[in-house]
Amino acid sequence: MKTEEVGDTRKATLMACAVRAECRYGSHFAQAFLGEKWIPCAPKNVASARRFVRDVAADWEVDGEVREIAELLTSELVTNALSHGSSGVSARDAIRVTVSREKELMIVDVHDSCVAIPRMRRADYLGVSGRGLPIVQNLSHNWGWTLNPAGKSVWFQLLAWP
Ligand SMILES: Nc1ncnc2c1ncn2[C@@H]1O[C@H](COP(=O)(O)OP(=O)(O)OP(=O)(O)O)[C@@H](O)[C@H]1O
Ligand SMILES: [Mg+2]
Repeated sequence: MKTEEVGDTRKATLMACAVRAECRYGSHFAQAFLGEKWIPCAPKNVASARRFVRDVAADWEVDGEVREIAELLTSELVTNALSHGSSGVSARDAIRVTVSREKELMIVDVHDSCVAIPRMRRADYLGVSGRGLPIVQNLSHNWGWTLNPAGKSVWFQLLAWP
């Protein structure tokens, strides 16, 4: 390859990188993957997942009240992933938390390796458990789960950029 051709290839590569960065992180880009965190399967790490989501939301200037709700719902889903979605996995295994944006919605996905799906339990006013998913349902814009080859993700959406 001639010297000027090497220069052209470099220029084209740099241009492609710049376009990609603009697409991913440009201020007008309303569809983006904002962050990912892997946490080892231990209850003490719920706080770390909460902090991660709070920090991403703060970086992207999500309103304080929405940030607090995002933290609370993350806490519920990560606790569920650890207590219901991780049976048989060792403490060295991990669950994955991702934050992304789709137009005005912030989406938090909590991935675990179990294919059992979350089941909203019937209201039992005296019961001490079965409260997590109703909280997620009541405070989120939408929530649900998606099965994938590695298990599933349970997710919620919040109106974060109205
Ligand atoms: N990630 C998950 N994997 C498998 N099953 C799940 C998962 N999350 C929830 N479930 C199922 O859905 C049920 C309801 O979850 P929910 O969070 O409402 O209640 P809980 O976790 O049992 O109690 P609480 O959240 O009040 O401590 C759980 O008991 C469990 O059977
Ligand atoms: Mg729960």
